[in-house]
Amino acid sequence: MDDQELIRLAVEARTRAYAPYSHFQVGAALLAADGTVYQGCNIENAAYTPSNCAERTAFFKAVSESCQRFRAIAIVGGPEGGSLQLTAPCGVCRQVMMEFCDPETFRILMADERGQQKEYLLKELMPESFSAADLALCTGERMKISHPEPDSLRCASAVAKRVSPAPGDPGGEYEAKSSRQLDFEEKKTKEESAWIKVSGTT
Ligand code: THU
Repeated sequence: MDDQELIRLAVEARTRAYAPYSHFQVGAALLAADGTVYQGCNIENAAYTPSNCAERTAFFKAVSESCQRFRAIAIVGGPEGGSLQLTAPCGVCRQVMMEFCDPETFRILMADERGQQKEYLLKELMPESFSAADLALCTGERMKISHPEPDSLRCASAVAKRVSPAPGDPGGEYEAKSSRQLDFEEKKTKEESAWIKVSGTT
């Protein structure tokens, strides 16, 4: 599945948009890790708030079919009867992406009528995001991992370190740290070593 085909499937999905209130029609095509594509369109409602974006329609279709691993999403949008304009996912959809996608690798493609394209990684559109890793940190909970893993592992937006049992044993408890916390600690270490170096030479 190449990017052009994924965009074509988003354009096709947009033809099914139900947007009688905003008259802004959006289509999405979500590429799963196994190669399956889930299409979605925006679905509005007279009460406004129950409206759903094209991206979330695609995600919810996929997850309700037991699919939870994704590689990329193509998004196209524009006014009804008008031309496509580069359409970025809204904040709520970005948060839904954070739940199921690796921000380091998940690609978000946008395209317009003139063949202009933009591509981002989820981490670029969702910096400093809130995710499952934050919950593990806030509550002091430990991530329980039931299969053999190395002593530390990196998942979507967290790094987990084995805390028990002894390294090498299967299973055990891992302490989770969000990438944000790690960034902070790495910077602090760098600053400290820079400071030590400076004070050592004066
Ligand atoms: N919309 C989407 O479906 N996806 C986006 O990325 C932006 C906005 C929809 C929601 C609503 O139905 C219409 O576009 C106008 O906001």
